[in-house]
Amino acid sequence: MACLYFHWIIITTIMLYTFQVSKAGNNETERLALLAIKANITDDPLGVMSSWNDTLHFCKWYGVTCARKYDRVSILDLHSSKLTGILSPHIGNLSFLTDLHLENNSFGGTIPHEISRLHRLRTLWLFNNSVQGEILSNISSCYSLIEINLVHNNLLGEIPPSIGSLSQLQLLSLSHNNLTGNIPASLGNLSSLSKFTISSNNFFGMISYSLGKLKRMNYLSLEDNNFYGEVPPSIFNLTLLTTLSLAQNHLEGNLPADLGNTLPHLQWLALGMNQFTGHIPSSIVNASNLNLLQLNENKLQGHVPSLHKLMSLSSLAIFDNSLGYGQPGDLSFVSKFLSQ
Ligand SMILES: *[C@@H]1O[C@H](CO)[C@@H](O)[C@H](O)[C@H]1NC(C)=O
Ligand SMILES: *[C@@H]1O[C@H](CO)[C@@H](O)[C@H](O)[C@H]1NC(C)=O
Ligand SMILES: *[C@@H]1O[C@H](CO)[C@@H](O)[C@H](O)[C@H]1NC(C)=O
Ligand SMILES: *[C@@H]1O[C@H](CO)[C@@H](O)[C@H](O)[C@H]1NC(C)=O
Ligand SMILES: *[C@@H]1O[C@H](CO)[C@@H](O)[C@H](O)[C@H]1NC(C)=O
Ligand SMILES: *[C@@H]1O[C@H](CO)[C@@H](O)[C@H](O)[C@H]1NC(C)=O
Ligand SMILES: *[C@@H]1O[C@H](CO)[C@@H](O)[C@H](O)[C@H]1NC(C)=O
Ligand SMILES: *[C@@H]1O[C@H](CO)[C@@H](O)[C@H](O)[C@H]1NC(C)=O
Ligand SMILES: *[C@@H]1O[C@H](CO)[C@@H](O)[C@H](O)[C@H]1NC(C)=O
Ligand SMILES: *[C@@H]1O[C@H](CO)[C@@H](O)[C@H](O)[C@H]1NC(C)=O
Ligand SMILES: *[C@@H]1O[C@H](CO)[C@@H](O)[C@H](O)[C@H]1NC(C)=O
Repeated sequence: MACLYFHWIIITTIMLYTFQVSKAGNNETERLALLAIKANITDDPLGVMSSWNDTLHFCKWYGVTCARKYDRVSILDLHSSKLTGILSPHIGNLSFLTDLHLENNSFGGTIPHEISRLHRLRTLWLFNNSVQGEILSNISSCYSLIEINLVHNNLLGEIPPSIGSLSQLQLLSLSHNNLTGNIPASLGNLSSLSKFTISSNNFFGMISYSLGKLKRMNYLSLEDNNFYGEVPPSIFNLTLLTTLSLAQNHLEGNLPADLGNTLPHLQWLALGMNQFTGHIPSSIVNASNLNLLQLNENKLQGHVPSLHKLMSLSSLAIFDNSLGYGQPGDLSFVSKFLSQ
């Protein structure tokens, strides 16, 4: 009986799926979309697109992976192929696409808004290209997105608040663009987000408290922007953080005394080139995986805690502060280090 029921579920699932397939279009649409994508690639010095011809079924074309049986493109992966061109709006017709990997090429133009029709899209990797324009607000229609990586492009404008509705999102990497504005509070809704990088842009303002709600966060980089004011205390409470980089902003305030206890997994702590005041928290010795500690060019003062317990520490920058008391023993943290 259980077995029969199980079969019934499978058959129903297959029928539903077939219905969806026939409703959503056919394989000729897929082929035409791919040909339009090819038509907008203007330079292909490695000749990777030459297999996109009529003698081969499109599911066998270079970089194309189809979902089993149905002749529907599920993955388009043309990364690192020295391609120049634009991304055709016909991409929006590949309605079964789950992964789009065009990273590390020379795609220019803008991200076509037709991409918002890709409801199954999980990964959007366009890093290291020359993509221009703004991040579309209707990218939020791609509600299956797990990873957005647009690092190293020429994007302008602000992060659309609608991104906060991408509830599956785990990675949002926008570093090295020309983005501006502030971090939308709605990002605090992205409860799965574990990596958020917006370094080397023109963001400004106070760092949004909402980031402190993202308990899964393990990699947070806001480096090299124009953030000012105090860091919301909740950020120093994101227990899973392994990388926290806030360097090269205009941040101020004291570092919390228990920082090394609330962030025990830290490997990379970069707070240099800000206006932080007060002491280096002695609890830092409890962040025992610390590899890089960068606190240079702040207004820190007082005693430098003994760092000899930090066995993995390989990079330490504390220059240009007001550390020490001008007395013998100020450098004891170093001598203990060297005596290891
Ligand atoms: C489209 O599907 C039909 C059968 O469903 C098949 O005969 C045909 O070869 C397919 N065409 C392409 C381009 O995949
Ligand atoms: C993109 O391809 C279409 C034909 O599909 C063509 O009309 C258009 O000019 C192309 N644009 C660029 C920038 O290559
Ligand atoms: C089509 O692509 C295949 C695989 O790269 C190649 O062997 C074949 O020569 C190509 N056919 C034409 C007509 O270019
Ligand atoms: C990027 O592509 C170049 C070839 O154009 C390759 O040498 C390099 O390893 C690629 N980088 C990454 C990160 O894939
Ligand atoms: C595919 O996408 C293009 C551009 O978005 C559109 O003009 C076209 O009608 C779509 N459908 C088919 C079947 O090609
Ligand atoms: C970025 O892409 C260019 C080619 O377009 C390549 O030369 C360079 O190595 C790539 N950078 C990285 C970090 O992969
Ligand atoms: C996406 O947004 C752009 C610009 O706001 C708009 O022109 C376009 O019609 C929208 N596309 C979809 C599919 O909603
Ligand atoms: C970045 O944007 C600013 C204005 O927000 C502009 O002045 C600057 O030229 C842009 N830089 C690049 C490299 O596009
Ligand atoms: C997302 O965040 C915003 C701003 O914090 C809030 O107003 C909104 O209700 C949230 N939406 C959802 C779906 O949680
Ligand atoms: C940090 O976390 C602790 C324990 O979960 C909590 O009691 C405290 O209120 C939090 N502090 C901030 C500033 O979020
Ligand atoms: C380091 O951690 C231990 C064990 O949790 C705790 O007893 C100690 O007070 C911590 N040291 C500092 C300086 O916070």
